[in-house]
Amino acid sequence: MVTRRDLIAGAAAFSGSAAAGFLAVGRRVKARAADPQEVIARPIAEGVKAVTFDLAERPTALPCFDGKTLPLWTFESGTTFPIVRMKLGERFDTVFKNNLPMAGEVASIHWHGLRIPNDQDGVPYMTQQPIAVGSEGRYSFVPPDTGSFFFHTHCNSTEHFGRGLIGVLIVEGDEISPPDDEVVLLMKDWRIGPDGAFLPFTTDEGAAKGGTPGTVRSVNGERSPVITVPSSADIRIRFYNLDPMRISEIGFENAGAAIIAVDGNGIPPMPFESWRMGTGMRLDVLLRTAAPGESVKLFDYFSKEPYVLAEFKSEGPPKRTGPFEPTPLKVMPFAKLDETSAQRMPFEFSATPTGASIAAAGTVSDIQIGPLCLSKRTFWAINKQAWPGHDHKDLGPPFAVLKSGNSYIFELKNTTPRSHPIHIHGHTFEVLSSSLRHHPRVRCDTVLLLPNERIEVGLVAGEPGKWMFHCHILEHQEAGMMGYIEVV
Ligand code: C2O
Ligand code: CU
Repeated sequence: MVTRRDLIAGAAAFSGSAAAGFLAVGRRVKARAADPQEVIARPIAEGVKAVTFDLAERPTALPCFDGKTLPLWTFESGTTFPIVRMKLGERFDTVFKNNLPMAGEVASIHWHGLRIPNDQDGVPYMTQQPIAVGSEGRYSFVPPDTGSFFFHTHCNSTEHFGRGLIGVLIVEGDEISPPDDEVVLLMKDWRIGPDGAFLPFTTDEGAAKGGTPGTVRSVNGERSPVITVPSSADIRIRFYNLDPMRISEIGFENAGAAIIAVDGNGIPPMPFESWRMGTGMRLDVLLRTAAPGESVKLFDYFSKEPYVLAEFKSEGPPKRTGPFEPTPLKVMPFAKLDETSAQRMPFEFSATPTGASIAAAGTVSDIQIGPLCLSKRTFWAINKQAWPGHDHKDLGPPFAVLKSGNSYIFELKNTTPRSHPIHIHGHTFEVLSSSLRHHPRVRCDTVLLLPNERIEVGLVAGEPGKWMFHCHILEHQEAGMMGYIEVV
């Protein structure tokens, strides 16, 4: 792999280009062709945002489809990836209708990263009964934290993500000094065959390895979009890895940039060299854009060759002069981990014997999703237990019962040659240590566990309920690398 360091032309990290100009005002809200679009939320009462979704199939020709139209599944008409923006303290009310085109295709919406009450978490059979085709579901909650979150269904997710059924939820209110602009980048590949139709979203071979890869890459529905930004400005980029399986390592070529939040959680600005991200992970970056007429490229250094995810082209007079000095975001209050009293819990992430032999043999066949939103075969396990293939009346026991308010240290041990982005619902982890690298002490809801790595994460048990704990490579999740913890 080519690392970020090999490619940095000069350590420009915190030295912005000086140019005469004026200070920034305003934020660009202009939408570009294939951008995720903002949902127009109906104000129903002071401090309440109400959104109605209509989950359905909508033939769409995104720019990355090269003129082809594909049967995407989306949350609403006219928008491929909706963005819901709200302010901290507002209530969010959603009504959604399941109009998906396949008989028996149940749905529920999970709000990834949000620490909301368990009955709003959107996990079928676990926190609610799933919503059948033709029926309506609703959610209502007040997000307790600011940040970059997203939402998705939680059954047959490989296909749902594969068809584009994902949306962004941004809770505003963390900025001490507003940036000059903001851009949301949503990275996602598509599985399209030579005939222009979707390929099977999952294969045994992919599910038993790192996941079944897409054939067409995209950011906001385009291949390597060129995004116009103000010159010499500090812009906030909310980067989302929402591919069903891809691991990426993002970084800028030769630009002043700082990481300001991980999975929506503000951190003291950290020079941004590169950051490795699995599916479900988000990164907020502050970038000092280039001088007028010049551009800065965002790369994925984890591809075979460094791949240009997006290019930021500067236009107009420079907004800022002087050095790049990123302002930190406000940090939301959270319960402090008590490391001395914390109870330690080991979690081993492994392959099942079937998974290992399929990965070795390279068999290709479709896997079927059964009634528990799981594949009928299990290739992966947590603590030697593959998420039960039996029926949803018996979910099996939790991995552990945690007491709300108590501190825990999860020892995550990967005994496989694959990376696994490990996600917990309704909580954030604090990364304490890694056996393989220096991992900054950040809070996140999804932590990337590298091949054969051991990571320790701290966790203060939150709201009571059953909280899913799983790999966010969707085929791993569906093929056994999932379970739950129970907070009482
Ligand atoms: Cu985005 Cu259960 O996860
Ligand atoms: Cu995994």
